[in-house]
Amino acid sequence: MSKTIVITGTNSGFGLAAVKRFASEGWNVVATVRKEEYLTVHDGITNVKTLLLDVSDEGAAEAFARDAIAAFGRVDALVNNAGYYQMGPLEASSMEQVHQQFQTNVFGLMALTKAFVPTFREQRSGVIVNLSSISGDQGYPYTSVYAASKAAVAAFSEGLNVELADFGVSVKAVFPGAHATRIFTKIDIAGNVPDDYQPGIQRFFGAQGTGSAPEVTVDAIWAAVVDGDQARVRYYSGPDGEIVPRAQQMLGRDWYWREFRNAALGNPSPLWKSMVRAGDEQVEFKL
Ligand SMILES: NC(=O)c1ccc[n+]([C@@H]2O[C@H](COP(=O)([O-])OP(=O)(O)OC[C@H]3O[C@@H](n4cnc5c(N)ncnc54)[C@H](OP(=O)(O)O)[C@@H]3O)[C@@H](O)[C@H]2O)c1
Repeated sequence: MSKTIVITGTNSGFGLAAVKRFASEGWNVVATVRKEEYLTVHDGITNVKTLLLDVSDEGAAEAFARDAIAAFGRVDALVNNAGYYQMGPLEASSMEQVHQQFQTNVFGLMALTKAFVPTFREQRSGVIVNLSSISGDQGYPYTSVYAASKAAVAAFSEGLNVELADFGVSVKAVFPGAHATRIFTKIDIAGNVPDDYQPGIQRFFGAQGTGSAPEVTVDAIWAAVVDGDQARVRYYSGPDGEIVPRAQQMLGRDWYWREFRNAALGNPSPLWKSMVRAGDEQVEFKL
């Protein structure tokens, strides 16, 4: 019997690529979009049911879970992918922007997870995969609120991984580096940024690469769903994502952080440059 996966935020980026991947591997897919105009976005892909869901609406989670389970009779996996990017210095971001970022990226994700947990617990199986970010692993400037929301997703995933282990349910998190998706066309940007910040913003973002293809992270999502490794929580994706845990392991977190911080402030060490090059070349980093 085919397995069924629920994937949120599927009209573009990782979500759309994941729908295509799981459907092509024979899974039934319940895919969510939040705008009616995208309800037809998966037309032509077999065994996909596309449903409307705004994940920031916590009150919609339980009814959605019931509809999702009814769509194919059961659910075996949930991928909490929907999210967006709030960007700009904290000082220039409104508290409304801060709350909305957490409402979508954290509280909505928690509410949806909570809505599926009873089913997974009772059926003694299920995989939950949450999209964190490499910036949730180490904190990026000028996107500190986004990074904090993704760090919350990481800690939530680890806590829940242990909490649900006795019931045969796996909980994992994916930490992508930068990927070329439409997320960067939909940024919720801070207003009235004081000029003081401009040099730092130019310095930090000017040094960023173009990003990987979304399929790179879909490979990590796929592995997280199917590898059967209940104890593993963290899946890094993209060369700039995969290099981080390796470098942290070799240098230790404190030394790694100083290297990252110096680079972000415009003074990358030769060691950092070699790590970045290693990431770009997708080769294993060696000291
Ligand atoms: N791209 C990267 O470099 C990167 C790196 C690390 C982590 N991530 C994370 O990966 C996930 C997917 O991002 P992506 O790069 O694939 O971006 P994307 O192409 O913009 O896809 C994000 C999806 O989430 C949906 N979404 C946003 N807010 C929603 C809400 N309130 N309710 C329901 N759906 C909502 C979007 O729908 P709309 O089109 O209607 O907004 C879209 O379908 C996000 O959680 C993101 O934070 C991305």
